[in-house]
Amino acid sequence: MSKHKNPFPGENNTGHFWDEENDIRELNNRPPRWYMLSLYIGTLAIVVYTLYYPTIPWFGEHNKGFANWTQISEMNEGVAQLEAYREKKFAGTEKAIAEKSLEEIVLDDELRTYAIKTAKVLFGDNCAACHGAAGQGNTGFPILADDDWLYGGKLSQISATITNGRKGNMPARMLGISDAGASTLATFLIETGKGKNGNPDPTSKDLYMNKGCIACHGPDMKGNQLLGSANLSDGIYRFKADDQHASIVRTILHGVGQANDSLTQDAVMPAFSHSSVIDAVQIKKLAVYVHQLGGGVAVK
Ligand code: HEC
Ligand code: HEC
Repeated sequence: MSKHKNPFPGENNTGHFWDEENDIRELNNRPPRWYMLSLYIGTLAIVVYTLYYPTIPWFGEHNKGFANWTQISEMNEGVAQLEAYREKKFAGTEKAIAEKSLEEIVLDDELRTYAIKTAKVLFGDNCAACHGAAGQGNTGFPILADDDWLYGGKLSQISATITNGRKGNMPARMLGISDAGASTLATFLIETGKGKNGNPDPTSKDLYMNKGCIACHGPDMKGNQLLGSANLSDGIYRFKADDQHASIVRTILHGVGQANDSLTQDAVMPAFSHSSVIDAVQIKKLAVYVHQLGGGVAVK
């Protein structure tokens, strides 16, 4: 601040001078009109907002506002709008999927594409935990993306699996087979599964016949889809293990799904017919989805 006489006495300056030449000095002007106007409008807006929207927390309660607005109600409105839009846009497609047969859906490009796209999320939510995100299987849970089916890869079979569930059943220690017999058979199955690289001992086949394996797994060892008895000739294991020989011995000695045997192999596919999250139309979409993962029997 300068101690000098004010060189601009007639001017509405405050007497603050900031440089030697007195070029920079503080004036006492009214703020511009636009500025004051926005200040008044802003102040008014605060009052309006305060009354209109929920504000001012007060002893656990708060002012609810004239507008009756909440984030939840805004979100619900948005969801309702989206659903109405979906309903309008896809109602026809949903209806067609509900009414048509699985074969018709697969043969119709539009319906098939729609079914697959919508089922992808359903599969992720309801199936992937057991079968893997792309149906690639997991320890104890079969692969859905290949053509090695326990219960069959026709649309009707896949749909029946999802609707009713499946429960593998193989008796433990068939016809009193011995531990040594089980080990011999396990070696035989592993060698057979290697195809032309394998070296199965032909005399072991007698054991396979005599101990009743043939009844469910068949003379060609390819299994029976009505029973879900695995194909034993292809080297693909539904009960895959690091020590495959030990796993097969276990299956032979303790069976599959034998309630009174604690070492039995577990094989339960849950039924979705009574599911509260998946309805009949969604099961159709899922059947179409699983069918195209890689191993579905082609529809003619
Ligand atoms: C709790 C685990 C679990 C869930 C969840 C599950 N599955 Fe399964 N799934 C299984 C098991 C275990 C089997 C094998 C049953 C057997 O060996 O008898 C199976 C078998 C199947 C098969 C038959 C495979 C074949 O080779 O024939 C299909 C198809 C299938 N599941 C589809 C689905 C679909 C689609 C969903 C979701 C809607 C689903 N699964 C959810 C455990 C599950
Ligand atoms: C009553 C019918 C039945 C008989 C008899 C039977 N099995 Fe099985 N077996 C099954 C079924 C069903 C499965 C598949 C279970 C599942 O995954 O749901 C199975 C699975 C297997 C598996 C597991 C295959 C894999 O992919 O991991 C092996 C190994 C096996 N059986 C070997 C035998 C042998 C060896 C015998 C004779 C000692 C035999 N089974 C007798 C029904 C039978």
